[in-house]
This record gives sequence, C-alpha cells and structure tokens, in this order.
Amino acid sequence: MFPIYLTGLSGAGKSTIGPMLAGRLGLPFLDLDTLIEADAGRSVSAIFEAEGEPGFRSREHQALARVAQGPLAVVGLGGGTLLAEANRHLVEGAEVIWLEVSAETAASRLVGRTDRPLLRVGSPAATLAGLLVERQYGYHTAATRRIATDGLEPSAVAESLAAGLLTPRELACRFDGHEYPVRIVTRGMDSLHDLVGRLNVRHAAIITDQNVAPLYTSSVANVAQELGLKHSVHVFPAGEDGKSLSTVETLMRSLRAAEVDRGGCILALGGGVVGDVAGFVAATYLRGLPVVQVPTTLLAQVDSSVGGKTGVNLDAEKNLIGAFHPPSGVLASMATLDTLPEPVYRAGFAELLKHGVIADPALTTALTRNPDAIAARVPLALARWVRASVAVKRDIVESDPREKGRRKVLNFGHTFGHAFETASHFELSHGDAVALGMLVATWLGERLGETDAGTYEALHAALTAIGLPTDWQRRLNDRVLHHLLADKKRAGTDLDFVFARRIGEVDIRKVPLNTIQDLATAARSSGPA
Ligand SMILES: NC(=O)c1ccc[n+]([C@@H]2O[C@H](COP(=O)([O-])OP(=O)(O)OC[C@H]3O[C@@H](n4cnc5c(N)ncnc54)[C@H](O)[C@@H]3O)[C@@H](O)[C@H]2O)c1
Ligand SMILES: [Zn+2]
Repeated sequence: MFPIYLTGLSGAGKSTIGPMLAGRLGLPFLDLDTLIEADAGRSVSAIFEAEGEPGFRSREHQALARVAQGPLAVVGLGGGTLLAEANRHLVEGAEVIWLEVSAETAASRLVGRTDRPLLRVGSPAATLAGLLVERQYGYHTAATRRIATDGLEPSAVAESLAAGLLTPRELACRFDGHEYPVRIVTRGMDSLHDLVGRLNVRHAAIITDQNVAPLYTSSVANVAQELGLKHSVHVFPAGEDGKSLSTVETLMRSLRAAEVDRGGCILALGGGVVGDVAGFVAATYLRGLPVVQVPTTLLAQVDSSVGGKTGVNLDAEKNLIGAFHPPSGVLASMATLDTLPEPVYRAGFAELLKHGVIADPALTTALTRNPDAIAARVPLALARWVRASVAVKRDIVESDPREKGRRKVLNFGHTFGHAFETASHFELSHGDAVALGMLVATWLGERLGETDAGTYEALHAALTAIGLPTDWQRRLNDRVLHHLLADKKRAGTDLDFVFARRIGEVDIRKVPLNTIQDLATAARSSGPA
C-alpha cells in the first residue's frame, strides 16, 4: 500500500533508524534527500546554493509525489518536508512515524556535520529549537505514530517500531448473528492461544493434510499443550481428491477413536481443501463442534476460511455436499506462506485481487505497484493485503450470508474461470483460471458498455505485477466455450454475469447467452492479447 514515512528534526535519527526498521520489516529504505540529490545530480547544499530554498522545496515535492506512488518502502523524509500542506496531503492515509527528539540531543548528534544548510549559522541547538517550534505542527498533524528517541539506542527504536507495525490485526466477522475474530499475524502461531482458550474445550482435534502436517502441526499442538488440552492429530492425503465423503468418514472414525466428544473442538490446519473438509466434519460430527480455521494458503486466508461455507465434492461435482458452519475464530499467519510452492502462492493472489476489483481500488493499486514485495513474500505487505481482502469478503458475506443475491458478486471472473479450468482438465489451477476469467469478463464488459474504458488495462497490469497468466485469447478455444455453454444451458438463455463497472465496483447483469458467445468468438480473432 503506502510507504512508511519517518519524520522528525535533523538529528532525530531518520537515516540511522530508517534502514534498521526497513531491514526488520523486509522492505527497502529510501532517503528522500538522497533521491533529490540523485535527481538533481548535485548535493542538497549545492541545490540550496544554486536554486535557494524554494528550488529545493519544489524538487522535494516532486520526489515525494513519486515516492508516494511507488512500491512499499520505508522512506526517511527531510526535516522540513511536512511543513508544506501539499506534502502532508501526499502522505495522507500512510503510516507516518514521528521520531521525537529534543533540540539539545539533535544538536549533539549532529556535531561535526556540515551537510545541513539550515544549521550553518548560529548555535545548532538554538536553531534546532526554533525549527522544532516551526515544524511541530506539521509533524503533529501528519504523524500516525510517535516515539521519543532521547536516550534510546537507534536499534531499540527500530525494534520497538517494528514490533508496533507487525502487531496482529483483527477483523470481527459476523454470520447470522454469530461473531468471530479473524486475526492476521506476521509470524508464529501464538495468537492461537486465546482463540482456542476462549472456547472452553478439553480436547483439540487437529485436522490437516499430509503436506502441511510435518510443517506446522507441532506449533499448533504446542498451543493445545500450553492450554492444558488433550490433543489429537488427524491427517488425510493432500489435494482436491481428498475432498470427499470417504475422507470425511475416515476422519470421523479417527475422531471417535481418539474419543473426541462434545467437549472437543476442531482445528483446521491447511489450505482450502482442509478448511472445507474439516469445517464440514466440524459441522456434522456430534451435530456440530466449534472449529478454528488456521488457513495456510493465501487462497484459504482470503477466501475459504472466511464466510462459513464448508463441504466436499461428490465425484466430479464440486462442493455438492456441505453446510454453512462459520468458524469460532480464524488465525491467518503470514509465516505459513513461506513454505508454499510458488504456483500455489501466486494462484492465491487471484482471489485476493478479485476482492480488490470488487470493492477496494487501493488494494488493486497496491498489488500493481509491488511486484518485488509479492515475489519476496514480505510478511508486513502480505498482512496488509490479506486484511484488506478479507474485509471485502466479510462485508459482502455479511450483507448476504446464504448467497441469495449480493454474495454472487464474489463469482466475478468465475463464469469463464470455471470453463478455462474444466477445459484444461484442471491443468490450469483455479487461481490461474480465475485470473483469465476476470480478464475476459472485463474485456466483454468494455465491449458491452458495462465496464469503464481503461479497466481492462488496469486489471491486466495488476495480474502482470503478480505474475498471473493473462493470455486468455490464446486459450479461449472451442472447448472452453463448450464448457461455458454446457454449464449454463440449464439456466435458460440469459446468464447472470458479474461485470466490473470499474476497479472497485462490480454488478450483476443478465446477458443473453448468445451475446456472450458471439463476443467471445470475436475476441479470439481481435482485441488485446
Ligand atoms: N469454502 C469456501 O468458501 C471456499 C472458497 C474458495 C475455495 N474453496 C475451496 O478451497 C480449495 C482450494 O484451496 P487451496 O488452493 O488452498 O488448495 P489446497 O488446500 O489443496 O492447498 C494447495 C496445496 O498446498 C499445500 N499446502 C497448503 N498449505 C501449505 C503451506 N503452508 N506450505 C506448503 N504447502 C502447503 C497443500 O497440501 C496442497 O498440496 C478448493 O477445494 C475450493 O473449492 C472454498
Ligand atoms: Zn474461486
């Protein structure tokens, strides 16, 4: 999303603490003065000499405007940057940290420095005291956090700031009057403690798959142990094939053998398959036990763990059998995403971005601007995006928990997405197929006047930044159209189709099937690649 800015007087420690903080957050550090110098090809002092302070301030404003549009980073501002209202406007909505320092301390830290043009005349301490009075208003109005740095080592300041920025974020979700927390953390599983503790159970039954079991079961089991609970572990084979009634039966027998009774709860540890299967087991075993979802794929964190849908497939029919069973809590730890295979990780962004397109343009922009943070799996960035994405899904689900109307907008990109997925015999992952499906929907929308011009291009840019496929035209063959039509014939000749009006707004429209088919056929020989 936005950069994290450091502000404060010269001598507050921005250029020392900034890189330390950035390192702890896994982000790059940028120093605004250094950017200005690189741009101008001369030092700040030389700019002051040649162009005066107005010349410098104008360059500073331009550099800040560029940084504000750039990727997520820790940015050290100049001591006077936030004096100008126009600059304060540019940092609005971002995290602005004010490193407070007394004039005396700042002066003592700057002894021997000659690169501060405003400190060359008179006593530095007196000048800094004057500057502080002048600038305090700007710091105060823009700051979202402040920390007094006098007497603290820079590393202690960086550590304290990092801890604050990495604090868990929590969202309250509701389902039919039942409220549950979704907690998003950057590391570890410690937060599971009180999510499980508050259930007042005696036995925690951990359900997971064979891939996830060796990675994270012990962390979850530790939490159960620390809470003094009996725990048992129930593992089934990974993959969509495991999402079956026979798995459910095997798991239920295993729960029975472990003597899980009504004093038990289920901990669903894994991706969407585990969440759906374990959630369904929790919904039906002993007529329902509480379940805490611990999603370990991006898809599960932003999509399947939130919203209360659980279930399994019946042969080739996806999710035919199921129940609404909202969780008692969700713990999404960004640390678990570290071990995801690259294609699974990337595919999860399709649903995350989908939520951006549905209702959060800032999320869409943030993804487009941050290919490096995406590739490096920066926990702070992921936590922000997951939170924003979950908030979109939550709001839609709350407005229509049982999918009678509005919840259908979550199917954006899925009409063609499912057709791509099926036609490829599931060689394309669901996420990749949804990425292509969103592009087709937007392309059609622009042709039908349902979608503002430029939306396709913006979506294409976001998908490219993420590294999801965009070559829908090449892939839109007869098989895909066949599956699209085969799937929809039963519903009559009109299709309920989800269009993006623009990035951040979608709508459902009835469209004659023929119109979609004709346009899709035409798209294969024309239009953007
Ligand atoms: N209930 C809902 O509302 C809802 C919404 C969307 C999708 N879904 C369902 O979700 C399922 C897809 O979920 P998915 O994409 O998470 O697939 P998945 O659960 O199969 O996980 C993908 C792969 O990653 C492995 N894995 C999971 N976490 C890992 C980790 N941290 N490190 C290493 N490997 C890990 C899994 O073992 C699996 O091999 C589908 O069945 C879909 O129907 C449900
Ligand atoms: Zn989906």
